[in-house]
Amino acid sequence: MGISNLSPCLVYGLMGLCAFLSVSHSLTLDYYAKTCPTVLQVVRKEMECAVLSDPRNAAFVVRLHFHDCFVQGCDGSVLLDDTITLQGEKKASTNIHSLKGFRIIDRIKNSLESECPGIVSCADILTIAARDAVILVGGPYWEIPLGRMDSTTAGYELADANLPSANEGLLSIISKFLYQGLSVTDMVALSGAHTIGMARCENFRERIYGDFEATSNDGNNPISKSYLDKLRSICPPVGKAAENNITAMDNVTPEVFDNSYFHMLMREEGLMNSDQELYSSLLGMETRALVKKYAAEPLAFFQQFSDSMVKLGNITNYDSYFTGEVRTNCRFINT
Ligand code: HEM
Ligand SMILES: *[C@@H]1O[C@H](CO)[C@@H](O)[C@H](O)[C@H]1NC(C)=O
Ligand SMILES: *[C@@H]1O[C@H](CO)[C@@H](O)[C@H](O)[C@H]1NC(C)=O
Repeated sequence: MGISNLSPCLVYGLMGLCAFLSVSHSLTLDYYAKTCPTVLQVVRKEMECAVLSDPRNAAFVVRLHFHDCFVQGCDGSVLLDDTITLQGEKKASTNIHSLKGFRIIDRIKNSLESECPGIVSCADILTIAARDAVILVGGPYWEIPLGRMDSTTAGYELADANLPSANEGLLSIISKFLYQGLSVTDMVALSGAHTIGMARCENFRERIYGDFEATSNDGNNPISKSYLDKLRSICPPVGKAAENNITAMDNVTPEVFDNSYFHMLMREEGLMNSDQELYSSLLGMETRALVKKYAAEPLAFFQQFSDSMVKLGNITNYDSYFTGEVRTNCRFINT
């Protein structure tokens, strides 16, 4: 949401309110130290089970957190189911048939409700779970500011307006990150999350048919012939039957959080148009330099990814401090 990156002082212009917000409501590392001291262990244990049973669960949870934070701020809005009185975000076109992992969050929530009832917000659970997901598939560790509140509303239209999509141009995607207060550097580093997880045919079809012609015409190297043949066999040029056929976004180490995504882009083998544009777009001088840097320096990538994930998790829904709550079931607002 637009105001999420502005200081509440600018938005409301009330000194008393500002003091109130900054004193009682900035996120802190020890937010649950007294009220739920085991929160981090509980989330970690559930995430270990989930990722052990299927490494893709790590990808699901990381993406859920991203899709939560880009719509009204990190407020658990993405977790809400549709009801008679509330339209959730799950059926928005960027999310439908695509976002998964909700049951993992339910399981964590259930454990925490028996451990410390009514204390830990779903938005915080998602933030911690995403961090643990990254660690459990080999990525970096970072500390998480906590104290988010859960929204009592969702943003169906905002989901489609704010979230980037596979066939979108680089500049448009950059502007969506800037709108959230995230920089070009954040955008490139966070895109490195595509080092894990899968994408559906629907999201790379244009790239391997239409876009391939276009990129070969303007002088960029196409995807290697053998990789392209493989992708085309998974995803034929037409037909709904294959729309949900999936393939790994990182074709070398699909289940490991490493920097191979950036090497892949330098080989022109980015799966989606949005991936490859980071390196190949004529408008992407800055993004191309960052891709090269993260390919050459894995530690620089890990460091920036950690910082950028904290920034992503800091996107705030200020309304939730007035109208928000700690949901007891992440799928429904409290009655
Ligand atoms: C930069 C703009 C981005 C675009 C255009 C984009 C788009 C997409 C698309 C289209 C998919 C495939 C969905 C499907 O086929 O069902 C996907 C998957 C994924 N995205 Fe992104 N994404 C972006 C940034 C991010 C960020 C910032 C993160 C997290 C920090 C992220 C994490 C993921 C993950 C982990 C998956 C795999 C999910 C799975 O295995 O189902 N993406 N993304
Ligand atoms: C995130 O928010 C916390 C607390 O509100 C703040 O201390 C920290 O500097 C912020 N970090 C980033 C990278 O924005
Ligand atoms: C889906 O992908 C598999 C290979 O993983 C392929 O054999 C199959 O034909 C694809 N489905 C369609 C409908 O093209």
